[in-house]
Amino acid sequence: MNTTVRAAAKINLHLGVGRVREDGFHPLDTVYQAIGIHDDLSLAAADDLTLATRVADHIDPADVPDGPDNIVLRAARLLASHAGRPATGAFEVRKDIPVAGGMAGGSADAAAALVACDRLWGLGTSDDDLLALAAELGSDIPFSLVGGTARGVGRGELVTPVDDRGAWWWVAVPAAEGLSTPAVYRHFDTMRPDAPEVPASADALLAALASGEPVRLARALHNDLQEPAIDLRPELGDLITLGEAEGALRGIVSGSGPTVVFLCDSADGARETAAGLAGAGHDVVLTATGPVAGAHLLA
Ligand code: C5P
Repeated sequence: MNTTVRAAAKINLHLGVGRVREDGFHPLDTVYQAIGIHDDLSLAAADDLTLATRVADHIDPADVPDGPDNIVLRAARLLASHAGRPATGAFEVRKDIPVAGGMAGGSADAAAALVACDRLWGLGTSDDDLLALAAELGSDIPFSLVGGTARGVGRGELVTPVDDRGAWWWVAVPAAEGLSTPAVYRHFDTMRPDAPEVPASADALLAALASGEPVRLARALHNDLQEPAIDLRPELGDLITLGEAEGALRGIVSGSGPTVVFLCDSADGARETAAGLAGAGHDVVLTATGPVAGAHLLA
């Protein structure tokens, strides 16, 4: 019998980044939102540990890392060693989340792998332990478990759900070529040698979120990695301008990029913006609502 787990893409509504720490990570004050673009991971019992990947049309299979370092296999091995059992199972991942796009696609897969292995192996691991293992694997993997809308502090791994009763409409435009997250953070260090130790607070964003008003949320969106991402990929700035001209309330780079997400005022607004971007030659334009659930079993 297969265990299937669905995990969502994330965007950062606020990404305040402080001066780099001694351990090489940056202190963050961020607000994540899980949106309705998903990877589905299924896991079947097997004697060894294997991974097969299928990708949506908009993803180049060559961009998906394979081999033993794939984050899905690392997640399985980490949970197995925590539980004192062998890491076994045949994974199949169906990817829809842009790869190296700043939408935590790999993190979603890792979170899904933790949930699937816990279920298939009958472990009943506590939420606290799963979150700690997730944090060991990557800074935004705890959020991929939690989903919804949540504030992240520390290096982004300390996650608290926040009140969000909105149903926000997003249009996402992935880039043909991904950006390396460490490279964007390094560029931030170069461009912002004066970055404060304490990252920009997410408080204003949280107030806008609680208002439920798209126009207010649009004004409050903030990403300290946007400038370095646009400096590395100037065309992202043009894309933001285009989407806003096509009716979006606001465009913003998602996390470390290069995916750009546009907040729209309604389903119709999202359809119009998506059509405008497609008409201007953008081959891949995805529409999604948020917030949605974190990594969860499908019946
Ligand atoms: O934690 P994760 O493996 O996702 O981080 C990938 C890379 O992104 C890190 O090695 C680091 O270069 C950068 N990063 C950072 N500060 C954070 C999170 C990630 O500098 N808070």
